[in-house]
Amino acid sequence: MENKRENFGGRIAVVAALAGSAIGLGSIWRFPYMVGEYGGAAFAVVYILATFIISLPVFISEAVIGRRARASSFSAMSKLRPGHSLWKAAGVLSVAIPLLINSYYCVIGGWSLEYLFKSLGGEFIFYSDADTAVIFNKFISSPFLPLLMHLLFMAACTFVVARGIQFGIEMFSKITIPALFVLVLVVIIYSISLPGAEKGVEYLVKPDFSQITPRSIAYAMGQSFYSLSLGMGAVITYGSYIKKEESIPSAGIWTAISTLFFAVLAAFAVMPAVFAGGMQPGAGPGLIFQSIPYVFSKMGMEHPTLSAIISIVFFLAVVVAAMTSCISLIEVGVSFLKEKFSMGRIRACLVVFLLCGSLGVICSLSFGPLSSFVIRGKIIFEMLDWLTSNILLLVMSLLTVLFVGFAMKREDVYDEFTNGGTKKNSVRIFKGFYFFIKWIAPVAVLTIFITNFIL
Ligand code: PFF
Repeated sequence: MENKRENFGGRIAVVAALAGSAIGLGSIWRFPYMVGEYGGAAFAVVYILATFIISLPVFISEAVIGRRARASSFSAMSKLRPGHSLWKAAGVLSVAIPLLINSYYCVIGGWSLEYLFKSLGGEFIFYSDADTAVIFNKFISSPFLPLLMHLLFMAACTFVVARGIQFGIEMFSKITIPALFVLVLVVIIYSISLPGAEKGVEYLVKPDFSQITPRSIAYAMGQSFYSLSLGMGAVITYGSYIKKEESIPSAGIWTAISTLFFAVLAAFAVMPAVFAGGMQPGAGPGLIFQSIPYVFSKMGMEHPTLSAIISIVFFLAVVVAAMTSCISLIEVGVSFLKEKFSMGRIRACLVVFLLCGSLGVICSLSFGPLSSFVIRGKIIFEMLDWLTSNILLLVMSLLTVLFVGFAMKREDVYDEFTNGGTKKNSVRIFKGFYFFIKWIAPVAVLTIFITNFIL
């Protein structure tokens, strides 16, 4: 059974897959608008610090659990510490959360796909000064097209997962992750060359720490958790495919660096264009679907071909980034179904597709026909985002650090962290890591959780 488990081929594959999970809509869609809403460069600085100080150790903890247990996230903890209902509950959460996230995540994936098609059709050129916000809102509230795009997007992701770990997820990530950096660099060059873009660059390089509030700190930390795909079973699941000889801390560090780097690049692709177009940086979730097409259409009047190409490049990057993350969420469910119900990979993929697809349909409709269905002032889509990102993800992360700090044997954690004492650098930092996970991480996660509630 142990030997039959699939593995990532090598170090590059591990980092590409983990970075693929991490780099996603969180970096290219959420991060730029959060930077815009919660303090510009100062927010980015807090986000970067939070990633290294808090999120990275939590990320490593998840991978340690996954590789030690070599099981799905559902049973990983109870396999290492049998007979405790708390860890069983954590297993259930770790499968339920990605299912819920995926349902709304793929809806945004579907929007990106539609915008890619629009770009391919050169549509933005013709928007001229038409109101892109109206076009966007009309699209997301219509009952049919977003559903179709959502299902198409999910089908593409499911197809990759169905091909397996090495020939699906690994191969796809190894090609698309480097390509993503190139695509975003192309957009940056265009974006900063626009007249008026300097203000956007300045906004990103000059931190104004007076803009930092407890709320923006909590949001920056939450964003950093979301960005590294923490608390959703994804890192536990991918961790279980990491071969024994690979170093988990080094995979973690490279994943964190590439994710941060990408998020910062995405901000440099989006913000200068937003300023050049005379738009507001704090435009919220619609930023890349409203402001960016507006800027492209404005530029399109003078350089229609260039503008058309750049919009294709930009939305292609959004689609690909969203896909690699969605793939990791699907794999969590697939690995659970394979293990628990001995299903074949393809059948498990179909089940996840049907489940997430149907939930996603409800999410998508919550912008149109179901918009009157509101819980605590939020439509279903917003409710799911809030519930998973601000609550469940943190609960799961708290359980993860408590598990590594108190339930797992210290020798086992040491063994995974240092590869049985053979990786000298890891041996050197192990004590600090273990202390942090035991005593500081739980307090930090709890503080973010409480701050989210009060503020
Ligand atoms: N990290 C992804 C992003 O920033 O878009 C989102 C995500 C993917 C969250 C996978 C959770 C996950 F399991």
